Amino acid sequence: MKMGRRKFLKSIAFAGAIATRGFSGCVSEPEPTPAPSMPTRTAPTLPATAPPAPKGIICYYSASGNTKLACQYIANKIKSAKFDLFDIVKEKSPDLDKYAVVGLATFADFWSVPYYFCSFLEKLGPHTKKHAFVFNTYGSASGKTLIRLKNMAEKNGFNVVAGYSLHTPESYPPLRARGSTFDDSPDENELEEFNEFISRFDNQLKSIQEGNAVNKEIKISFLSRILQELPRTQARKDMGEKYVDESLCIECGVCKSVCPYGAIQLKPKPVFDMDKCFGCWACYNHCTEKAIYTKKYKGTSQYPKPSK
Ligand SMILES: Cc1cc2nc3c(=O)[nH]c(=O)nc-3n(C[C@H](O)[C@H](O)[C@H](O)COP(=O)(O)O)c2cc1C
Ligand code: SF4
Ligand code: SF4
Repeated sequence: MKMGRRKFLKSIAFAGAIATRGFSGCVSEPEPTPAPSMPTRTAPTLPATAPPAPKGIICYYSASGNTKLACQYIANKIKSAKFDLFDIVKEKSPDLDKYAVVGLATFADFWSVPYYFCSFLEKLGPHTKKHAFVFNTYGSASGKTLIRLKNMAEKNGFNVVAGYSLHTPESYPPLRARGSTFDDSPDENELEEFNEFISRFDNQLKSIQEGNAVNKEIKISFLSRILQELPRTQARKDMGEKYVDESLCIECGVCKSVCPYGAIQLKPKPVFDMDKCFGCWACYNHCTEKAIYTKKYKGTSQYPKPSK
């Protein structure tokens, strides 16, 4: 049975309501120790307050909202750490020193990690042995995304203990045009598998907090192992020149605000700088007036209701 984006959203809200924050391993009472000279029972000395749950941060890049939703879902379900969410496009560089665990999350882009996320990781600098997990959403085939994420994070010194790729609706208009929309993803089986991953990851976090060794949980499918990365410059070529239908454009500026690469200027209608554009389709997908078009795509196959 299919789950659908709306149901996925609902289940996130539900998960948010039921999520209990706090580190259970830290709230158990210490065993009372009788004083050696006194055989009678003495009252245990309890800490005044329980230690706070370890803090984590999930740094995400989400062009149309799927990755953001999935990260919120993870953060709500995890009980043994409290996760902040960090949007790498909207916010400045994160202060990772404040966090015990770091999540690195993005979407599959030409079977690999989007250029924007690669530059973010490069700028993060070394974080020796800090625990991390990697995560990506994908529409049709994740390819090398998770492996690349893991390798890049390890190059930065992170100790990557978990990784997962989640099937979600397809946001790439040329594939949507061919009918590959996957609008009902994740289906129930995919969601169940995702929940199982989150639960295992939660247990890993408990073990880490208790100072125990953890087994790594990084699931990479057979298909992802054999697929090669696609040349990233192909995206820009495939998209080609962008134009604006001036009769439709209402000069709202949304396209400029969602362009992570700073390739749009408003004069007052958008003007595109093709040298800066990476062909991410965010402007095309987010324009509510369908005013942006290319030679092949005009007013068609946008991602339905992307969230910022
Ligand atoms: C430019 C572009 C390239 C994409 N490349 C892939 C890809 O290689 N494999 C895939 O499965 N999905 C691909 N997708 C689909 C997205 O990875 C997928 O829809 C994802 O959930 C979008 O996440 P977001 O809503 O957080 O941006 C691509 C989407 C875009 C816009
Ligand atoms: S998002 Fe669309 S309507 Fe708004 S300024 Fe850009 S092109 Fe015009
Ligand atoms: S101009 Fe549009 S397609 Fe190009 S990088 Fe910016 S948002 Fe992406």
